[in-house]
Amino acid sequence: MWDCDCAFRTQGCCCGNTELQFLRDQFFLILLWLAFGTGPVNVAFTAFLGEDVKCIGPFERNVSIPYNVIPLNEGHGYNSVLGLFTAPVSGVYSFSLSVYCRMQRAGQHMYYKVQLMRNGSPEVAMWEDNAQDMEDSSSHRVLLSLQRGDQVYAELVQNRTLCGNIEGLNSFSGYLVYPVAA
Ligand SMILES: *[C@@H]1O[C@H](CO)[C@@H](O)[C@H](O)[C@H]1NC(C)=O
Ligand SMILES: *[C@@H]1O[C@H](CO)[C@@H](O)[C@H](O)[C@H]1NC(C)=O
Repeated sequence: MWDCDCAFRTQGCCCGNTELQFLRDQFFLILLWLAFGTGPVNVAFTAFLGEDVKCIGPFERNVSIPYNVIPLNEGHGYNSVLGLFTAPVSGVYSFSLSVYCRMQRAGQHMYYKVQLMRNGSPEVAMWEDNAQDMEDSSSHRVLLSLQRGDQVYAELVQNRTLCGNIEGLNSFSGYLVYPVAA
């Protein structure tokens, strides 16, 4: 069965697999707590959309963007199936989000909005709504104080389309600046 929470119908995107990935990540964290009495100290990830991704959206609802190329995932915080980062330890984190969009032909309506979410609430957003530009890009960096288990992800807002990913220009990355005792 395909998972309705997945934006792409990739091989790993089925209901059972999502739960298995989640369980694997949770199990890893429990092992760390049992072995060392602490979560991972090194937490850093980088993820971007691969060249195979031409356009995503429009969707009927806000959908998390599953950045599918993951060169770095220290501490197992990033889940590529759901596009979710889950804080393995409480602390202050830095996140960067870059959005790039290119239309296929001149005059096409560029209409996207991508927002960085923390536990279901938007923190920052980037958007375009015009037919004059063929390509545009923007980026944001935020510092967030997170509790262990808090979730951060980038979301494409309903009815909007993001096109023309090239050379990894749509990216999401983050790292733990310093841990804070929970
Ligand atoms: C999707 O995001 C938009 C823009 O932030 C917001 O207005 C809308 O309420 C969100 N939809 C849902 C179902 O949360
Ligand atoms: C999204 O598009 C559908 C179909 O065109 C429309 O019925 C709906 O009102 C739109 N929703 C928003 C929030 O723009």
